[in-house]
Amino acid sequence: MWMQGDTVLEVTNLSKKIGDATIIDDVSFRLNQGEIKGLLGPNGSGKTTLLKLLVGLLKPTGGSITVEGYSIQKDFEKAISHMGALIENPDFYDYLSGYDNLMQYVRLVPDTSKNRLEEAIELLEMEGYIHDKVESYSLGMRQRLGLAQAFLSRPSILLLDEPTNGLDPEGIQDLRNYLKRLKSEGVSILISSHLLAEIEMICDRVIIVDQGQIVSEGILDDVRSMQSEEGRYFFRLLDMDKFIQLPKTDPLCQKVVEVVADGFYIQGTEHEVARMNRLLVECEIDIIGIERVQATLEDAFLSRLRRKR
Ligand SMILES: Nc1ncnc2c1ncn2[C@@H]1O[C@H](COP(=O)(O)OP(=O)(O)O)[C@@H](O)[C@H]1O
Ligand SMILES: [Mg+2]
Repeated sequence: MWMQGDTVLEVTNLSKKIGDATIIDDVSFRLNQGEIKGLLGPNGSGKTTLLKLLVGLLKPTGGSITVEGYSIQKDFEKAISHMGALIENPDFYDYLSGYDNLMQYVRLVPDTSKNRLEEAIELLEMEGYIHDKVESYSLGMRQRLGLAQAFLSRPSILLLDEPTNGLDPEGIQDLRNYLKRLKSEGVSILISSHLLAEIEMICDRVIIVDQGQIVSEGILDDVRSMQSEEGRYFFRLLDMDKFIQLPKTDPLCQKVVEVVADGFYIQGTEHEVARMNRLLVECEIDIIGIERVQATLEDAFLSRLRRKR
């Protein structure tokens, strides 16, 4: 029996080189039993590659992966039997119903069963359309079908690559509920995304990857507080000419990252935003509004980490 907190997936010094490029660079982390871990990183940071390595779709050039105590390299069959994955868009036969697609899978894959299929349909609340042809499915329904398929072999570990892509806020909310249900059944989940906002409500902990490396790991509150220290703000101005003519002697002007037709963006702390506001007022530049632009991983958080490195 695995206890809460046991490590179900252990990745040690994992690397993947393709040609001259190092796509995954010395990555180590653990996934614990019953945990939902977010794998966050901008596009091109290596999330899909990492997940493909974890399920054996790619071979690492260094390091090791252990699943429930079995090495992916030495004990592939045993290791892989514990994992379900949804990586990129799964292929389905559009002219068959969702049910028949899943039945095909049940016939092909050992350790799956019709009972399990019924369970997955119920768990993911797919009864309403499971007998409709897949060609009539929305993206959210397809995602759910993919999730059901990943779930059929009763995996103790589920790997999901950007499952929120293309879902509306309601779909994301539903996904979150299904994953919580899976978690309560003891399933451990690794879920990737390039948008913090889309998975922050789903995960217990996150790993942040950038350029193939883990740059930060922790509970989300830590990430959020690091992120909120600096933000990107938009100052909408009445008269841009006045701003452009302003002598940029104040060091605060170095915080301006982009100037557009009706205003400018600065990257800074709330304190700096307040100072900028005062500076503009003193120079008689009228401000129509100041908005915080939603901080993406890319701008606030990663730029700080990159500077530190
Ligand atoms: N087969 C490949 N050959 C060469 N470069 C690749 C290959 N697959 C991915 N890459 C590169 O590896 C990096 C990470 O890609 P990927 O894992 O898809 O990132 P993410 O899923 O985070 O967007 C990207 O720079 C991508 O161009
Ligand atoms: Mg990807």
